[in-house]
Amino acid sequence: MRQAKIVICDDEKEILRYLKKILHSHGYAVDVYAEGKTLLDRLEADPAYIPDLLVQDINMPELSGIDILKKVRKLRPALPVVIMTAFGSIDSAVHAIKLGAYDYITKPFPKEKLLAVLEKALERESLLKENLGLKAELTNRSAPGEIIFVSNSYRMVYDMTLQVAGSEANILIQGESGTGKELIARAIHENSARREQRYLTINCAALTDTLLESQLFGHTKGAFTGAVASKKGLLDAADGGTLFLDEIGDMPLSLQVKLLRVIQEREFTPVGSTATRNCDIRIVAATNKELEREVAEGRFREDLFYRLNVISLHPPPLRERKEDLEPLARHFIAKYSARMKKHVDAISTGALELLHRYHFPGNIRELENIIERAVILARSPEISADLLPIRTSAITPVMLPAECSDSLESVERQHIQCVLKKNANHKSRSAEILGITRKTLDRKIADYGLIIPRGGSEPD
Ligand SMILES: Nc1ncnc2c1ncn2[C@@H]1O[C@H](COP(=O)(O)OP(=O)(O)OP(=O)(O)O)[C@@H](O)[C@H]1O
Ligand SMILES: [Mg+2]
Repeated sequence: MRQAKIVICDDEKEILRYLKKILHSHGYAVDVYAEGKTLLDRLEADPAYIPDLLVQDINMPELSGIDILKKVRKLRPALPVVIMTAFGSIDSAVHAIKLGAYDYITKPFPKEKLLAVLEKALERESLLKENLGLKAELTNRSAPGEIIFVSNSYRMVYDMTLQVAGSEANILIQGESGTGKELIARAIHENSARREQRYLTINCAALTDTLLESQLFGHTKGAFTGAVASKKGLLDAADGGTLFLDEIGDMPLSLQVKLLRVIQEREFTPVGSTATRNCDIRIVAATNKELEREVAEGRFREDLFYRLNVISLHPPPLRERKEDLEPLARHFIAKYSARMKKHVDAISTGALELLHRYHFPGNIRELENIIERAVILARSPEISADLLPIRTSAITPVMLPAECSDSLESVERQHIQCVLKKNANHKSRSAEILGITRKTLDRKIADYGLIIPRGGSEPD
């Protein structure tokens, strides 16, 4: 069998010597580099230089470990990289793994641990090579995201989404950041008669006013400095399809007039042109601002608001539908463990409990990030509470008086949870205090997805 070639890059000469000796004695061919630049030069100059694995220190003095990793990913996208990190710099390891590193190991490490990590990485590389054809095919198809929920409040939004998708109406999606507005917009397109046509998106908050205008409407040659050739806009490109206008609340007033014309007259004029163009576009718009207030304060045109708001969808924040937490968490565990080829498929009761008590200002996107990070860091098939970056101070204190914006449901849930906790999860006693039957309590526990650890009180 061919000897696997491992490349090590670390500025500490001692480490290089030590690793080289161990790996040699285990039958690997080893190249060492004390500087990232030398390694990158070699990879660039010699396309036939294809190591099987790179072990790289993340804290390097000259070129940062992250920069080296980024360049390596460009030069050798298939090369698995294992990061070595110092104790206490887990965040840089997480960053590295998001950039495509395979795994990380914290210094100092026993040699058995290193060998185990390297063997796993090499094994995976050969598996990947076998599956390369299949993998390329899978990543080419960008499937719309699956929408996960069990709550009634989200069911209402979802049913409405499917119901209105088939119509030609323009739709406004209003909801807090990370509640899944973009996912809903895509679902509208996929379930509409326009599904075979294009679905294009633009973020109105991400561009300057002039750039947004020319991106949307296109421009003629010489329309402004730098317009060296005429260019078609998204309204042309998405003709016959759906255009998703994200963060519509940030669209400048001058463009709002033009958009109104698109909706009402189905026509527009490219920047610098006098000729009117027709378009057949369905608009789906989203915002996390309260558009009614933007209208009241003169930042959003009332006529456009009414045009868009004929049908509006309001995905509720995660904290108001915590029943969805567990299915979503499990969905993201499956998603990221498959993506990272890691065997993680469970979440501990303590971790779920911590999630239930957290407020989730960033909603589902925040949950997704938390789970992604936990899967990266997990060393066993089960995600435990200590892998979740949720500080106890960020947890909604259970005994605080309810905020006026809280729903009755969420206050009830919190109160039940609090009473259970105070009574060491003794259900009959808690039911008595709450003035309900034991059976009703059981039903509410199930409805609210409360987690009651078996045998003993809840963890703090
Ligand atoms: N019900 C759901 N099921 C599965 N994944 C979801 C669900 N809702 C949201 N997500 C995921 O959460 C992330 C955030 O969703 P999305 O980008 O649609 O939110 P958004 O409301 O557009 O956020 P923002 O206002 O910050 O742009 C995405 O990765 C999305 O796939
Ligand atoms: Mg969005």
